[in-house]
Parts: sequence; structure tokens; C-alpha cells
Amino acid sequence: MSVTVIVGTQWGDEGKGKITDLLAQDMDMVVRYQGGNNAGHTVVIGEEVFKLHLIPSGIFFPKVTCVIGNGVVIDPAVLLEEKASLEGKKCSLDNLRISSQAHVIMPYHKDLDAAQEKKAEAGRIGTTCRGIGPCYVDKYSRYGIRICDLYHTDILRAKLEWNIEEKTFIINNYYKSLVSYDLDKMLGDYTGYGKAIKQYVVEESSALVNDSIKQGKRILMEGAQGTMLDIDHGTYPFVTSSNPVSGGACVGAGIPPKAVDEVLGVVKAYVTRVGGGPFPTEETGAIGEELREKGHEYGATTGRPRRCGWFDGVVMKHASKINGLTGLAVTKLDVLDGFKKIKICVAYKHKGREIQAFPTDLERLNQCEPVYIEMPGWEQTTCKAKKFDELPQNARNYLAKLSEVAEAKISMVSVGPERTQIIKL
Ligand code: GDP
Ligand code: IMO
Ligand code: MG
Repeated sequence: MSVTVIVGTQWGDEGKGKITDLLAQDMDMVVRYQGGNNAGHTVVIGEEVFKLHLIPSGIFFPKVTCVIGNGVVIDPAVLLEEKASLEGKKCSLDNLRISSQAHVIMPYHKDLDAAQEKKAEAGRIGTTCRGIGPCYVDKYSRYGIRICDLYHTDILRAKLEWNIEEKTFIINNYYKSLVSYDLDKMLGDYTGYGKAIKQYVVEESSALVNDSIKQGKRILMEGAQGTMLDIDHGTYPFVTSSNPVSGGACVGAGIPPKAVDEVLGVVKAYVTRVGGGPFPTEETGAIGEELREKGHEYGATTGRPRRCGWFDGVVMKHASKINGLTGLAVTKLDVLDGFKKIKICVAYKHKGREIQAFPTDLERLNQCEPVYIEMPGWEQTTCKAKKFDELPQNARNYLAKLSEVAEAKISMVSVGPERTQIIKL
């Protein structure tokens, strides 16, 4: 199989980083296709814990070309920090490639993000405040700054003049957060960033990816966030500003849909969400707390405690349909060790009627109650299991139920954060 898309099936943090790293050892290329440094992808190799925000999770294999695709938004200062941190741990970035078409997150994007969140008060999305949304807004408004602009001082100056004038006006007058930007300093900073990353920049990253496809190379597309955070298919407006779903990989990397062979959905054995917005199976009491503590559910980017709850089959079915999943990687099964009873949401009840389809209208979603079935838990620990047969029978039954709901086969089960804690089916 030449192209596999890895996609989050919930609200992010399903363990995409770990699964990408695992599969990357047999790949030639790993491509990030959307999002930015709102993502936090954890890879644990022995004692070392790496938290990647922009650099693809295939970077630990020197033979793997790692591409930051055109669909990603890049904060160059964060990219350089990540580069320094990885190089400090003896990880080479020689195989990194950055699309010159990717958009650049500017200081005013971060200020706008923060100002919008502040003003929204109770209705706030709970963004990562990394400037992601405002940067994508500029992209679609067609006055965004792309990586290629960092190499044309005149163009960059002209774009900055316009953007600084507009953003300063909006932030100061509408949001009443006082900001001022020094155009010459910003110009100097960003041309400097451009120079610092120049060795990695490729004019048309899609050509690089498509050439690799033609040569029969094995390529992984690493999604960030998850299906329920998708701007079109998630719980709008409590979503991110890009398309994490599998279809987003085509646009964000510049490949044709027919090039995609496999879509691997990463599925946490329960569900978490960071930030605001609906979460039908959320457990706000002791169970949620237990899941959070056992699963170390704290954001890899912002450190915020993640909201936790039971596995949601309605969300799973939605993700299966939108992404066309051909396989599942179930993660964090070990976190459920020791629970006497485990609940699975199999439908929602809306005004007395059971529904199976995820309501896209938030008003309707808010009127829904999850319908649960209960399955017996298992007392043993699963974190040392190397084969499916070594899992307790009740854990195998639970996995079978997840697979049935998702209408997709499980191809791997993760039973711990470490690279080696994986069962391949
Ligand atoms: P991503 O954003 O989808 O890459 O996921 P994150 O890295 O934000 O969050 C997943 C967290 O769970 C990280 O801390 C991982 O190290 C950890 N993790 C991944 N798989 C497993 C697993 O099977 N069991 C346990 N206990 N932790 C895991
Ligand atoms: P990974 O790739 C979990 C959430 C934020 C917020 C919403 C919008 O690690 O799974 P944004 O800053 O994107 O405008 O915030 O999306 N969010 C994530 N939640 N994992 C992520 O990435 C996320 N990236 C954004 O918490 O609710
Ligand atoms: Mg994460």
C-alpha cells in the first residue's frame, strides 16, 4: 500500500503521534497536511518523551522524509524551537521539507485569537490561542502570508503594511486589547526566520509527494486534531479551523483522492476533549477523574486537563463514514484496566426517540442523551500484552464491540505510551 492516512476519530489526542511513529519505521515519507502548533503529538522512545507540534512524527527515522504540507499553518518561531529541541536530543532534521505554500502564523494572529476568546466569555471555544483560526481566516481572505513571501522583502513589507493596519484597528477598536506592531521589526524577524528555515523549504511540496507516489514509495499522511474538531464535520463552532478528516489530506498535501489506499482511524478506548463544546458521553464526576488520572489526560500543547468520558459509538460511526476508515488503531486500552463495568454509548436519545446519526445541529445535539450498554471490565493489567490472545477475554469482547460499532477491523491495539507497547493484528 502506498498512501495511508492517519486520522483522529474523536476530538483529538487519540494517540496519532504514537501510531504515526510506529508505522513510520516502514515508510519512506510522513506528511502533515493541516493544522499547526495547536497539535501536540507525543512519541515515547524508551525514557525520552517527545512532544511534536509541527514536525511530523516520522522524524525519528533518518530515512523517512518528513514533509510539512501546504495545508499546515506554520509559526516559524515555534518551528525553530522544536528544531532546536530535537537537535538537542540528537535527532537529525536533514530529511525535513517545508512547503513554500504553507501559511505563516504572525504575532497579530495570536493576539486576535486571544482577544476573540476573551470577548466571547462563556461562549468561548477554548482555543489553544496559537493564532490558528485567524491565520486560516487570512488564508481564505487571500491576504495571508505564505512561507514563500518570507523571501521577497518588498512583497512581505506590502502585505505587512496592510495586515498590521487592519489587525491593529480591529484588535484595538473592536476587541479593546491594546496592541501595536513595529513593521520594520516584524519584517526583520520574519525574513530572519525565513533564512533560518530556508534549507528545508521546497517550492512545491505536492510535487515531492506525488513523485514519491509515482515511484511506489510508502507514504503516511499524519492528521492533526480529529474528526469532531473538523471545521465542516465536527461540532461547529467548537472546532478547529481546518479539515483533519481524511479528505483534508488530499487538499493539504496536494494529492489526488485515488492515490489514498488506506485510512487508519485512531480511536481512544474512551473519549477526551480539551476546550469548550458538546461532549455527550462526558463524565464530570469520579469516573471522569479516574480516566484523567490513569490516562494522564492533560494537554500536550497547553497542559489543560482534558475532559473525559465513555466511548461514543455515535461519534465513531460518524467518523467511520466521513473518513472511509479501512482500519482502526485502538489506543489506551490499558487505561480501562480495573474498571468493573465499562459503558459504551450505542445511540443518542432525542425527544424520546433513539437516533444513530450524529446531529450536526448543535441545538439538537444539546437535547440528546447518550444511550449506553454496559460491558464487564477486566481485573488484569493489559500493558504487557504482546498478542491479542494475551488480552483478557473481556478486553477482547470490548474491542470486538468497538470494531462492530465502527464497521472496521482493528489492525492494532496500543496498551501503553511506549513504542513497544503495541499489539498488531
Ligand atoms: P495525539 O495528539 O493524537 O498524538 O495524542 P497525544 O500525544 O496528545 O495524547 C496521547 C497521550 O497518550 C500521550 O501522552 C501518549 O504518550 C499517551 N499514549 C498513547 N498511546 C497510549 C496507550 O496505549 N496507553 C497509554 N497509557 N498511553 C498512551
Ligand atoms: P492534536 O493534534 C485536542 C482544540 C482546542 C479547541 C479547538 C480550537 O494533538 O490531537 P484551535 O487552537 O485549533 O483554534 O482550537 O480545538 N484543539 C485540540 N484538541 N487535540 C488537538 O490536537 C487540538 N488542536 C486543537 O482545544 O477546543
Ligand atoms: Mg495531542
